[in-house]
Amino acid sequence: MTVSFIHVAGRRPAVAAYAAAAVAAFVVPDATFAAGTTVAPAPIYSDAASLGKLLFNDPSLSASGRMSCATCHSPSHAYGPPNGLAAQFGGPDLRSQGTGAVPTLRYVLNRTPRWAHVQASSFAERATDGDAAPTGAFTWDGRFNQLRDQATFPLFDPNEMANRDPAKVIAQLANAPYAARFRKMFGDAIFATPAVALRQAMYAIERFELGDPSFHPYTSKFAYYLDGKVKLTAAELHGKALFDAPKSGNCASRHIDQSGVNGAHPLFTDFTSRP
Ligand code: HEC
Repeated sequence: MTVSFIHVAGRRPAVAAYAAAAVAAFVVPDATFAAGTTVAPAPIYSDAASLGKLLFNDPSLSASGRMSCATCHSPSHAYGPPNGLAAQFGGPDLRSQGTGAVPTLRYVLNRTPRWAHVQASSFAERATDGDAAPTGAFTWDGRFNQLRDQATFPLFDPNEMANRDPAKVIAQLANAPYAARFRKMFGDAIFATPAVALRQAMYAIERFELGDPSFHPYTSKFAYYLDGKVKLTAAELHGKALFDAPKSGNCASRHIDQSGVNGAHPLFTDFTSRP
């Protein structure tokens, strides 16, 4: 067990670098421009994202007509559940309880690396280590690499939004108050092919989840501390030292609390799935 831990700890910088690369993909790099050059502001919020926000909040896209993504991922509760239930109730009559806790959608969505499961590369490594833990991807079991794929799951899960098929969802969408905007963006005939319309709808939700600043506000005291805006108290610094020290908590070996190489705030995870 100890051996396995040492090995994984040794691998951690590689994982962190991978996560940092995933972050870098979403960060517009600073560029130096020749004096006098006018630079248009970088687009930070697309039309697709604002359409995605409407979809995310639209209960008519469920069999009950009363459940949207926002019902479970409440924007006023850090995109987590709005109540203390261990699992939420959904389904056509909102009476079927789900099987898992609703995670917050804050911070991780635009920084989650793709799923990877690095196998031991040599006999010696296998003998001492076994497999490395799987890393990355969305949901507890890392089933989805892309948010647009993940978003179809709750739409058709019988315990969640419980739609029977894409045609039903798209029929609702075609009657939504924002249907004209959807047509304008994806073409007049978009609703004629439900599978394609569904794919575009999921793409719009993904743009919203990746692009809306409400998913990654970084307004905690710890974020401000990292930004040099506030100081931690003596007790808080003592707690951080215990959290970090290998001989006490050693929490930071997995729950990384150092800023990334590009100054990105830490997310307290190395994205490994490990019991
Ligand atoms: C009935 C409650 C419910 C509804 C409605 C719901 N979700 Fe979820 N969501 C969950 C649960 C529970 C999980 C964890 C599932 C798992 O890991 O297997 C989850 C997981 C997720 C994740 C993965 C987060 C991560 O960090 O891996 C995303 C993204 C997500 N939901 C987006 C959505 C979107 C988009 C919608 C609407 C199309 C939606 N959810 C509707 C309950 C819900």
